[in-house]
Amino acid sequence: MTRANLVLTPGDGIGPEVVDAAIQVLKAVADRFGHSFQTRPYLVGGCAIDAVGTALPAETLQAALPADAVLLGAVGGPRWDDPDASVRPEQGLLKLRKALGVFANLRPVQLYPELLDASPVRPERLQGVDLLVVRELTSDVYFGEPKLRRMVPIVGAPVGMQGLHPQEEIQAIDTMSYTESEIRRVAHVAFQLARGRRTKVTSVDKANVLESSRLWRQVVTEVSHAYPDVALEHVLVDAASMFLISRPASFDVILTGNMFGDILTDEASVLTGSMGNLPSASLGDVKNSLGLPRGLYEPIHGSAPDIAGQGLANPIGTIMSLAMLLRHSLGLPAEADAVESAVKAAISAGCRTRDLGGELTTRQMTAAILDRLGR
Ligand code: IPM
Ligand code: MG
Repeated sequence: MTRANLVLTPGDGIGPEVVDAAIQVLKAVADRFGHSFQTRPYLVGGCAIDAVGTALPAETLQAALPADAVLLGAVGGPRWDDPDASVRPEQGLLKLRKALGVFANLRPVQLYPELLDASPVRPERLQGVDLLVVRELTSDVYFGEPKLRRMVPIVGAPVGMQGLHPQEEIQAIDTMSYTESEIRRVAHVAFQLARGRRTKVTSVDKANVLESSRLWRQVVTEVSHAYPDVALEHVLVDAASMFLISRPASFDVILTGNMFGDILTDEASVLTGSMGNLPSASLGDVKNSLGLPRGLYEPIHGSAPDIAGQGLANPIGTIMSLAMLLRHSLGLPAEADAVESAVKAAISAGCRTRDLGGELTTRQMTAAILDRLGR
């Protein structure tokens, strides 16, 4: 019997609906396999801003740090989108990732054969697609300093017309930055995972333009020497975005930075028919009470304000994230397999939420999965 302490951060929009679905699956796993999982919900994102004025309350962080794993729904929404707001929901998620030190974000893209029709890409191009994006998660332009706005003189502004025309304008700056050690540690994760797969790593960067990408390419190449059994290729991000559509099956592990990984995983997710299907696991060096990586688990989709509160969200991304949690942070591979098989069986049986062209509600889809978990 495994005892574990899990922190839940449902967040905003459809977040609470999909996390609720995952909790039901977690309870079923505990019953069936005889485990004891303690779960407690905490605030993050817009709901935290509304309640206490910050996107990541101290209470949430204090609970997450000693937890065995954290399961998150989604953050953000139009309510908090004012560009002049001093605090944004997304800051809560970014601070949580940084504070947990989860620098490696694993985003597997697996196809369900029955969903090939739901994909905008032709079925013959999808044959054999099974890829894993390893996205660096705690650096890059998301976190680089300086990150600011300042006033700068307008280049070529007419002289002597002060008052009529402003002589200054706002400039906004974000900094794309990577250190060698930040690149090295996530590269090791990608190569190690490739060893358990088809032994190929595609490193994606923009080395023809960006200095941080040139360092990325150099360090990834150095790290690759420790893995002579794994093939390494470098692909520029613009070409990679094209190949993801034109020949997605050619990828095994894609290793990339925070920003490129964010963009490419939304693109890759539609290969599976809906981004609602995609789970993720974010891991670092810190071990939990079980001696396994303390992780942050979340679907890759957002808070979907257009359908929030209607019970229509696809719970698969979160339920599959829970399966990753069971496998990586709790060391329960049989339980993870059981959850994944139940999801696959429900899809095989034709169960579909709206995003997949079906009519099931979140509850009905979850019930269909629970039903197959019990078998
Ligand atoms: C994701 C999301 C987040 C990100 C947002 C909500 C900050 O798009 O997890 O992919 O950009 O990392
Ligand atoms: Mg994203």
